[in-house]
Amino acid sequence: MNFQMARRAQRMSPSVIREILKVTERPGIISLAGGLPSPETFPIEALRAATERVLRENPREALQYAASEGFLPLREWVAEQLRAQGLPADTSQTLITTGSQQGLDLVGKVLIDPGSAVAIEEPTYLGALQAFAPYEPEFVTVPCDDDGPLPEKLDVAKGAQFLYVLPNFQNPSGRCVSASRRAELVSAAQKHDLPIVEDNPYGDLWFDNAPPPLLAASWPEGTVYLGSFSKVLAPGLRLGYIVAPRQLVPKLLQAKQAADLHTPGFNQRLVYEVIRDGFLRDHLPTIRARYKAHRDAMRAALERHLPGECRWNVPAGGMFFWVEGPPSLDALSLLPKAVELGVAFVPGAAFYASQPRRNTLRLSFVTVAPDQIDRGIALLAQAMQSENT
Ligand SMILES: Cc1ncc(COP(=O)(O)O)c(C=O)c1O
Repeated sequence: MNFQMARRAQRMSPSVIREILKVTERPGIISLAGGLPSPETFPIEALRAATERVLRENPREALQYAASEGFLPLREWVAEQLRAQGLPADTSQTLITTGSQQGLDLVGKVLIDPGSAVAIEEPTYLGALQAFAPYEPEFVTVPCDDDGPLPEKLDVAKGAQFLYVLPNFQNPSGRCVSASRRAELVSAAQKHDLPIVEDNPYGDLWFDNAPPPLLAASWPEGTVYLGSFSKVLAPGLRLGYIVAPRQLVPKLLQAKQAADLHTPGFNQRLVYEVIRDGFLRDHLPTIRARYKAHRDAMRAALERHLPGECRWNVPAGGMFFWVEGPPSLDALSLLPKAVELGVAFVPGAAFYASQPRRNTLRLSFVTVAPDQIDRGIALLAQAMQSENT
């Protein structure tokens, strides 16, 4: 049978990262490629105890179909946490999603028509490009510097459906937008009537200081906020959330119903059991300390091994270094050589909707042990040298 694919299916493409991850599962490869949180941080004991409690106390409710909005106590918890960060979130505006990746898909479904413009940063999260692309937007790239999107350039996004932005420890660049840039960005967006979609899975993973306030806190009626439990508990739970301006909530909910009826109720109850009494207050500092030590190990290794023409940021949180090589470097063609030597990374080109900067690469520092990080970066440097010769 010759199936005729929908246009939307033709706009779907395989995730470069997931393809690379397949290679890196080979034993012996030091993978700096995946965006996976460290499994050492997963709260296994707390989840075990919570599983036992949920199955003892509410087994039937936990295993039954559940509300599309999400488990009410968890929605209340999320809204309360966000209110503490200055976002006046009401429980009725808070929906639990199947990971924040689903939040991106729902936003795309509700807000993007074929041919409508969607403004993005450069580089940006590949998974968002993948989520939005099937709805057939025209991506408009807002010029950025090391402090994020340039507010004075936001006029390129005039008329766009929204600006998708990751102010905290961005995936892939690791950058964290300063307080003053956030204020300028929000006022420029307001001036252009440009809604914001703020994606914040990494905001809690800061090392020395908490990041500046959320964009959504200064413009709640113009911002859709996306959060996630993946990086603070475990991604396998597939739990995220959306806090949206009121007029969007019914449509997001209808889109969610069509997609999967509801986020797994069992997982929502589990997570609520784990976090309800302040578990994250003690848990987050352990993740931060661990990731900071790894960040320091990678920073030292980059300084020790990479050639002088390479530049990188020093992330103040999150999971990634973003390295810019000499203009002649093509990170895509470097990758097979690096893998042959025993190290993997993600070529930066994957994170651009158009005009990729081919000499960039993303390195994750959280899953590999510090001594292996050093070895991995040494191998990367060796691969770069062999490219040059
Ligand atoms: C920027 C960004 N947004 C969203 C997601 C999706 O996260 P989740 O596991 O909550 O679906 C990720 C995952 O890596 C991410 O990096």
